[in-house]
Amino acid sequence: MALVTTTEMFKKAYGGGYAVGAFNVNNMEIVQAITEAAAELKSPVILQASAGARKYANSVYLKKLVEAAVELYPEIPIALHLDHGADFAVCKECVDSGFTSVMIDYSSHDFEDNIAESKRVAEYAHEHGAVVEAELGTLAGIEDAVSVDADKAMFTDPDQVEEFVKRTGVDSLAIAIGTSHGAYKFKPGTDPKLRLDILAEVARRLPGFPIVLHGSSSVPQEYVKIINSHGGALKDAIGIPEDQLRQAAKGAVCKINIDSDLRLGMTAGIREHMEAHPDHFDPRQYIGDGRKYVKDIVAHKIVKVLGSDGKA
Ligand code: G3H
Ligand code: 13P
Ligand code: ZN
Repeated sequence: MALVTTTEMFKKAYGGGYAVGAFNVNNMEIVQAITEAAAELKSPVILQASAGARKYANSVYLKKLVEAAVELYPEIPIALHLDHGADFAVCKECVDSGFTSVMIDYSSHDFEDNIAESKRVAEYAHEHGAVVEAELGTLAGIEDAVSVDADKAMFTDPDQVEEFVKRTGVDSLAIAIGTSHGAYKFKPGTDPKLRLDILAEVARRLPGFPIVLHGSSSVPQEYVKIINSHGGALKDAIGIPEDQLRQAAKGAVCKINIDSDLRLGMTAGIREHMEAHPDHFDPRQYIGDGRKYVKDIVAHKIVKVLGSDGKA
């Protein structure tokens, strides 16, 4: 199977009451960990690259790494997605270079500008066989080195979604219901809660339309503990409860974005290895341990959070 768009994946996910994982890729080991887990569990998967990833690894390397995974695992559908495309130009560049899906993130602009830029991207992408995700509402947290304070974050207004989707022609919509980017999503002592009521209202307004959740890492405490007991200092790292994500995946949410949890897995494996083997200096040894934890985390997400195992 060649790289696919998310169209078929989302249709099946919506009808089947599960979501497809969209995992951020930055290097070979992360691509390997994600796709090995997905292939073993017969799950569709979305590999996504942010601007930071494209700058770090170079878009050409990322594309070729993803193509290698497609060649190795022809039995599972794999989509290559641009995460948080800043404007039409970057979306066009990715469509032209073979990404099958792009996100135009104009969520911090006003409603009319968001509509105009998202529509422009959708028209171009559709002419070239790619699909488009846009965003309404603003998440808190850090993305591409831009930090949005929790008090500046805004939930998606369900009154706007029909008009937005109709006028832009986008294929999926990311909404803000209380998720946020990074590993510090909630203050300690607070009760982490997603606004599943807003999700339900959006779904009612857009029947059958695929919804996307960004900022959906759960910050598994066992990995935070490994990091902190091997020289790390991650204080009060708290994520989204898995049962709430599972609930969302059973409904209109067809794509769930996860990056921070993979970073935690990689860091935990490397820190643990370094402390246990101070004499090692072969990167394959310590990065290999990081890769193993990333794979374990992806497998756990597929089975326990997304419910996409066996759906390839
Ligand atoms: O949306 C945020 C993703 O975690 C990407 O993060 O911009 O540091 O690559 P990044
Ligand atoms: P996390 O920081 O919660 O992993 O979110 C990742 C994300 O939304 C990428 O677009
Ligand atoms: Zn995001």
